[in-house]
Amino acid sequence: MSAGRDGRAPRVLLGVCGGIAAYKACEVLRGLQKAGCEVRVTMTEDVLRFVGAATFEALSGAPAATSLYDYPGSAIPHIELAEWADAAVVVPATANVMAKMACGIADDCLTTTLLACACPVLVAPGMNVHMWQNAATQANVATLRGRGVAFVGPDSGRLACGDVGEGKLADVGDIVAAALALLGGAGERDLAGLRVLVNAGPTHEAIDPVRYIANRSTGKMGFAIAAAAARRGAAVTLVAGPVTLATPAGVRRVDVESASEMRDATLAEFERADVAICSAAVADYTPAAPADHKLKKSREHLDAIELTETADILAELCAAKGGRMVVGFAAETDDLIAHAEEKLRRKGADLIVANDVSRPESTFGADTNRVALVSAGGTKQLETMPLADVADAILDAVGRRAAR
Ligand code: CTP
Repeated sequence: MSAGRDGRAPRVLLGVCGGIAAYKACEVLRGLQKAGCEVRVTMTEDVLRFVGAATFEALSGAPAATSLYDYPGSAIPHIELAEWADAAVVVPATANVMAKMACGIADDCLTTTLLACACPVLVAPGMNVHMWQNAATQANVATLRGRGVAFVGPDSGRLACGDVGEGKLADVGDIVAAALALLGGAGERDLAGLRVLVNAGPTHEAIDPVRYIANRSTGKMGFAIAAAAARRGAAVTLVAGPVTLATPAGVRRVDVESASEMRDATLAEFERADVAICSAAVADYTPAAPADHKLKKSREHLDAIELTETADILAELCAAKGGRMVVGFAAETDDLIAHAEEKLRRKGADLIVANDVSRPESTFGADTNRVALVSAGGTKQLETMPLADVADAILDAVGRRAAR
């Protein structure tokens, strides 16, 4: 664990919200201390219904800030705590506090302190599955992620309310590990020096100037990979099919439309890459002779469009890769692992990321994915996770291989 500034212990501000998992914040506090961190606590008044301030004060050895107007030794605890902290960790983050964070609302000691924090912030949500899945909560999560707030969890499982599903606070060990990573420990800019090429999104194959053949890909997974790779220090080029997504920070983007343009751009960019990650849903067939004018259904044939097979970009990259790493995807609806293993062999990829697009949590357009990482060394099935976490898991595999 790296020390904080001037050789002193890293300082973590623990923001505790009023949820049934508030007692787990005590374990997070202990875990952070065991890892060598100094911890101070700010919390909402509702926490007092679950865990007493005395518990946090005894564990942290400092007053827990519940009120802006009653904090021993300071008239402005929110500024003092925000400036003191090297990182802030919100455990358990309720839907209400995340909504306030997303809107910049500061109406109590916890949210005012968080608004004043310039340090990295980690959020560990814990709530009922329906509250987590509510579109408002998901929009707030997306807003916070977009501003660089890190998330850990929530996990799936039996919730305190009796429901089963997503919303369970992440494991204490995972929260502590994520907080340590945020403080500049392992994993921060671990891909610095690596040139990563990602292709993403669908392709559009023109039938005529008006009509085209496409597929349901949104590009979200590939964009999440590009964003995560850039955040982890890689030089990232993203070859994007026709999608409506914003370019992730620090990523160089090349826009293409058709499978043939996707092929040309991906192959050209691969000359300057160490790793290629092919998440694009490239059309397998394209009209053999696209019309240069809008076909009139009354007199021209639209019921039988002649198609030709497109080039397999992934297979071409694998043939040219030498010692470089090439990662492919397999979007399947059945026999997931068998199909992925077959694609790994047939195309010659180093890794195939396999996902079952017939499941709601891993289908096109979802904000989560449940993937298996299939390589010559075996298959690793991952849990359903937000796309950013899936992206990190894929990049962990890339990083391990690059380090060899
Ligand atoms: N791929 C590609 N070029 C193509 C088709 C697919 O580079 N013309 C890549 C995709 O980007 C993905 C992988 O190959 O990384 C697997 O794509 P998928 O559509 O699942 O498989 P296909 O090869 O098209 O085989 P099938 O349609 O039989 O599943």
